[in-house]
Amino acid sequence: MKLAIETIGLTKRYGSLTAVSKLNLKVEKNTIHGFLGPNGAGKTTTIKVLVGLLKPDEGTFKVLGQEVHGDMPDVRLRMGYMPELPKFPKHLRGWELLDIYGRMYGMTKQERVEQIPKLLDMVGLKGREKDFVGKYSKGMQQRLGIAQALLNEPELVILDEPSLGLDPVGMVEVRELIKEIAKEGRTVFLSSHLLFEVEQICSHVAIINRGELLISDSIQNVSNKLSKPSTMQVEVAKPSNKVVEAVKKLSFVSEVTQDGNKLIIELKTHDDVRAQISQEITKAGEVIVSMSLKEQTLEEVFMQLVTKSQGGRAE
Ligand SMILES: Nc1ncnc2c1ncn2[C@@H]1O[C@H](COP(=O)(O)OP(=O)(O)O)[C@@H](O)[C@H]1O
Ligand SMILES: [Mg+2]
Repeated sequence: MKLAIETIGLTKRYGSLTAVSKLNLKVEKNTIHGFLGPNGAGKTTTIKVLVGLLKPDEGTFKVLGQEVHGDMPDVRLRMGYMPELPKFPKHLRGWELLDIYGRMYGMTKQERVEQIPKLLDMVGLKGREKDFVGKYSKGMQQRLGIAQALLNEPELVILDEPSLGLDPVGMVEVRELIKEIAKEGRTVFLSSHLLFEVEQICSHVAIINRGELLISDSIQNVSNKLSKPSTMQVEVAKPSNKVVEAVKKLSFVSEVTQDGNKLIIELKTHDDVRAQISQEITKAGEVIVSMSLKEQTLEEVFMQLVTKSQGGRAE
C-alpha cells in the first residue's frame, strides 16, 4: 500500500489545549480521502502541520513517502493546498492571482501561459478571468482557490473544507471538480464537517473528534462497522408502564423509550419483527394506532459517534 500521508502519534497543542492528540493517519495514494469531524475537531490544525505551517509537538509524519522534520523538504512542491475559506486580494484579476502564485512556484512564463487557461477552464472560470476577484461569488473564489492548489501539478492535493460557505449549487460544482482532480491521478485529502459531502465523493474517510481519530477506513467498511440496527416507532392509544416493560422483555429489543403516545423501540436486529411486536403490545392490552420502521442513516451514526466520544482535550 503506497501512502500519500502517514502520521504517527502526531500531537499539536495550543497552550493547555490539545488540538490534535496522538493521531495515526494513513492516506493511500490515488484515493479521495475525507477528513471528517465537527467544528473544532482538529482538522485544520492537522492540515496546517501537514503542509508545514505548524510544527507538531510530538510524533512524526511522512508526506509522499518523505519523512518531514523541521523545514519541509522539496515535497512541498509536490503538493497543493487550499486553506479554509481562502481570502485573496480583491483588487487582482483571477488570472493575475494565478500568475503570481505560478511565479512563486517557480513556473516559467511559458508554463504559466499554458497551465493557467487550462485551470481556469477546469474550475469553470473561463471568461471571468479578467474580472476582479472582489467581484467573484464565494463559489468562484473557492474554485479559484482550488485552481491555485493545482497550479504546480501536485501529486497530493489538500483541501481544507472546500465547500464551506457555498450554496447547494456551488457545493455540487466543487464536488464535481474534486472528482475530476482525482481522475487525473492525484490523491485528494479534504476536510469537511459534513458527512453527506464526504459520503458522496470520498472512497475513504477518517473521522476525528476532540483531536482524536475515531475511525479510518473505506466508506464501505465504516458504514458496515457503524451501521446500527433500526428503530421502530409504535403509536399506541394509551401507553402504560406495563406495555413498555412487556416490549422490553423481547429478546430482539434493546431499549424502549416513551415519547407521548409513541414507543420508540430500538432493535438489535434488521429482521422484520413487526408481527411479534404488535402481538406483544396487544397482549399487554394496548391498542396500536400506527407503526413505522426507521433505519438509521450514516449521518445519525456519525452524530452519535461524535457525541459519545470523550476526552483527549483539556477543556
Ligand atoms: N491558533 C490557535 N490558538 C489556540 N487555539 C486554537 C488555534 N487554532 C485552533 N485552535 C483550537 O484548536 C481546536 C481545533 O481547531 P481546528 O484545528 O481549527 O479544528 P477544525 O478545523 O476541525 O474545526 C479548537 O478547539 C480550536 O478552538
Ligand atoms: Mg477547520
